[in-house]
Amino acid sequence: MPDTAPRGLERLAFGGDYNPEQWPESVWQDDVRLMREAGVNLVSIGIFSWAMLEPAQGRYDFGWLDRIIDLLHENGIRVDLGTPTVAPPAWFYRAHPEALPVSQEGVRYAFGSRGAICHSSTAYREAAAAITEQLALRYGAHPALALWHVHNEYGVPVNACYCDSCAAHFRRWLATAYGTVDAVNEAWGTAFWGQRYGSLDEIEPPRATPTVCNPAQRLDYARFADATMRENFVAERDLLHRLAPGTPVTTNFMTALSQCDSVDYWAWAREVDLVTNDHYLITDGRRTHVNLAMAADLTRSVAAGEPWLLLEHSTSGVNWQPRNPAKAPGQMARNSLAHVARGSEGAMFFQWRQSRRGAEKFHSAMVPHAGTDSRVWREVVRLGADLDGLATVRGTRTVADAAMLWDWQSWWAQRLEWRPSEDHDARERADTFYEALYDRHLTIDFAHPDADLSAYPLVVVPALYLATEATGRNLRAYVENGGTLVVSYFSGIVDANDAVHPGAHPGALRDVLGLTVEEFSPLGTGERVRITAADGAELTGDVWTEFVVPQGAETVWTYADGLTADRPAVTRHRLGEGTAWYISTRLDAPSLDTILGVAAADAGIAPRAELPCDIEVVRRAGENGSYLFVINHTGTDTEVPLTGDGTELLTGERAAGGLAVPAGAVRVVRFDD
Ligand code: GLA
Ligand code: ZN
Repeated sequence: MPDTAPRGLERLAFGGDYNPEQWPESVWQDDVRLMREAGVNLVSIGIFSWAMLEPAQGRYDFGWLDRIIDLLHENGIRVDLGTPTVAPPAWFYRAHPEALPVSQEGVRYAFGSRGAICHSSTAYREAAAAITEQLALRYGAHPALALWHVHNEYGVPVNACYCDSCAAHFRRWLATAYGTVDAVNEAWGTAFWGQRYGSLDEIEPPRATPTVCNPAQRLDYARFADATMRENFVAERDLLHRLAPGTPVTTNFMTALSQCDSVDYWAWAREVDLVTNDHYLITDGRRTHVNLAMAADLTRSVAAGEPWLLLEHSTSGVNWQPRNPAKAPGQMARNSLAHVARGSEGAMFFQWRQSRRGAEKFHSAMVPHAGTDSRVWREVVRLGADLDGLATVRGTRTVADAAMLWDWQSWWAQRLEWRPSEDHDARERADTFYEALYDRHLTIDFAHPDADLSAYPLVVVPALYLATEATGRNLRAYVENGGTLVVSYFSGIVDANDAVHPGAHPGALRDVLGLTVEEFSPLGTGERVRITAADGAELTGDVWTEFVVPQGAETVWTYADGLTADRPAVTRHRLGEGTAWYISTRLDAPSLDTILGVAAADAGIAPRAELPCDIEVVRRAGENGSYLFVINHTGTDTEVPLTGDGTELLTGERAAGGLAVPAGAVRVVRFDD
């Protein structure tokens, strides 16, 4: 079993994607000099270099890569070496146009960007194996090699191909998964709309159809597409393990990016030696540092709590959103160190030197177009020094307070068409629940619905539309054994084939919640409902209401208006040693906070009300000591109470009783042993 930590790194990783082939070699000397100045110790190279390394089939040119790897090595900089299989060369597509992917509408994509790959293509698989083998043999024993970086961000920009090779591959996948065509007919419910198949050969991918395509077919195709990409990752990984043993293999994830939710990272995390993640601030109106925290928590969670590595983020603005603001002074360090607080063993960027040409020339970098006499560069150098001071946090683990269930397969099912309301957005619920917990200063682990939850006093389930009977039993056991569960509407509705569980909703969760739902009653655009408690307190919901029938649960909050007036809105079910809450409407943020406050009290979680909003406090602990990260996202200086004395690692000052954290600053206390 290869190591899971990048080979030879003694400090937190600091560096980024380095694309030396975009620059004359005369620039390389300057690059390594500046890398040393900033304290860079790891760079990712070769990710898009296939056309340079293999200019024609079977003709290789490794000279430039030899030279740059040697130069990096001479300068003490280690290498995360890419297999360039996300960017096959033009000659490859000339010979194998069938390896270009086909969209759902039947459009075959063209060469000229990146990631144009049909993962079922035999020609692609063979060519990818050939270049990977060459790299493994040539560089596997190079002393600079720290990590293998397979491919790049599987799942984007193409998450599924609908070509004829994929159709044949899908049929093979179905044969393995189901055995017979009758089992597929049963699972997909093809009796509906006359979709019955007489043999597996009649089945196609869910291509563009006149109206809604069979949802179970689409769900299985999402599984198939994900599994097919994973097959290709595993093939490259196994080659690297065999030909270049001893160096961990990763591929960079994008865990919390809603645009990249076609990858089941629970399954992928089991296949990589080290979980790595890319994260970019999404400017969608939500607080970017909350989304960042969520991405980092999710990445740590798929890594089963083990250390992981932030392989890409940005020094300042990106260039692929409608508007791409620069980062504010200090924001880059807050971002980087928030990832470290939440388990990352370093902070890496896309990219080292800002490109002059190509699609990403307006994406920020460590060395910007403006050069080193720039704010970004000065902050990069400063960050390198800060990370240096945090070297001892390596190997410690982030300490979580509560868990949120998360399941990509449930997302895939939930986003299919013709649901009770298109205003219900499962991801919105997850984001809102996470934000509410973040604002309570709770650190969250994400958990697969079938995971052992017994370590968590509180588990929230924002929108788990697809939940199996096994999940229902897991949640019931969790509550019976003393856990506190909070479940939101439209959870536990269908099984793994998107079939409604028999009987009243929510089939998988009726027992644990102690209720049934007779009917959904989504609200009109802009419509709101009031819900009230016995003491007269009032909360607000929108988008969704339900006719809830308690079957053991008590009604704590009641609808005050709308079609469901006078019926239960929020219920509590005491079961065994624990409690299960159910929220049948989309609560606004203050209302959700009220319910989570009561549930947290049920769970015995002490309130941390003394901390102001947007003061992020996270713990890492382990053999290397106990650390408190405090990130001040506000424009106001603050003071955080400390339980214990220690040393602040970024200033070297002693910290006892309390910790002063200036506006926009980060402080990290290492407690005395
Ligand atoms: C992704 C890719 C990088 C680069 C960055 C910035 O994360 O992996 O190659 O494109 O985005 O846009
Ligand atoms: Zn295909």
